[in-house]
Amino acid sequence: MSGTVVCRLDELVDGAARRFEVDGRAVAVVRIGGAVYAIGDRCSHADVPLSTGEVHCDTLEIECERHGSAFSLVTGAPNTLPATQPVPVFTAAVVGGDVVVEVAP
Ligand code: FES
Repeated sequence: MSGTVVCRLDELVDGAARRFEVDGRAVAVVRIGGAVYAIGDRCSHADVPLSTGEVHCDTLEIECERHGSAFSLVTGAPNTLPATQPVPVFTAAVVGGDVVVEVAP
């Protein structure tokens, strides 16, 4: 895949998120085991980063620390209120131990 190498997989804490700038966009990259997910690092409810929120590994969600909306790491949809609008998700993969994120134009 094309995209940007943001770090090595072993530099990410399992079950947590970390913020990166990719092509000018703030992206929260989440590691769950050997899988990675990339979601826009801004809650759709207010201007709050999602990367500081708690990751729910069992349901593949990240929870906004401000008011608790849980966003799907797969679709970006808010699964709980108060947020009602989705957050963009991006393609992320591990390639040769590198974490690669592709931000759609
Ligand atoms: S700011 Fe994220 S749920 Fe309110």
